Amino acid sequence: MAILAPSLLGADFKNLEKDIRTVEEAGAGYLHLDVMDGVFVPSISFGMPVVAALRDCTGLVFDVHMMVEEPVRYVKAVREAGADLICVHAEACRHLDSVISQIHQTGARAAVAINPATPVSAVDLILPQVDMVLIMSVNPGFGGQKFIPYTLQKVRMLRERVRELGLDTDIQVDGGVTLDNAEELLEAGANVLVAGSSVFRGDPGENVKRFLEIFERTRR
Ligand code: DX5
Ligand code: ZN
Repeated sequence: MAILAPSLLGADFKNLEKDIRTVEEAGAGYLHLDVMDGVFVPSISFGMPVVAALRDCTGLVFDVHMMVEEPVRYVKAVREAGADLICVHAEACRHLDSVISQIHQTGARAAVAINPATPVSAVDLILPQVDMVLIMSVNPGFGGQKFIPYTLQKVRMLRERVRELGLDTDIQVDGGVTLDNAEELLEAGANVLVAGSSVFRGDPGENVKRFLEIFERTRR
């Protein structure tokens, strides 16, 4: 079954522990943590000290989305802070192949993200090396944006390519994911959905359960 990765960026920053426990108990699989540097993306979110502090309060898989220029500089630190899965942007790495190897050397799983306007072909040669590809469905930097429709086609193309190569790479989608477009995304071939505002706005526990009902229904 698909995995739900609630994005911490959408949580109540005054009560992170409470929100994390709620989504964990409701059945979320990953906790998506957005690290931003104010350079690769316009905004600044949080960094290693916050990731490390939260590590103690949950058993959720820490899926750290590095929206940072040359993230290779932080691979070791983010792993030490508690990341299980480290995701770097293809657009932010001068030597992507080397960054992926360095992530694996820390013992973490490695993912590569691509912005909406970056073609799927940008990750073609690296596909056998990565555990997951993240298709950004908004321009990264902020929560609560609208899903960009043409990215759905990128999910289909990538799933097709992964099949062709006989791989079982996870395909994650991040940005503007809602209860209304989740089914379509799964059908296109995504199997890890990030959701910030659509989980944490309203009743987070209830929202997670609704997502999981859709996942159950569209089980492949
Ligand atoms: C945006 C971040 C997302 C963000 C998603 O750049 O990468 O993870 O938190 O938020 P929603 O689900 O509200 O679009
Ligand atoms: Zn993200």
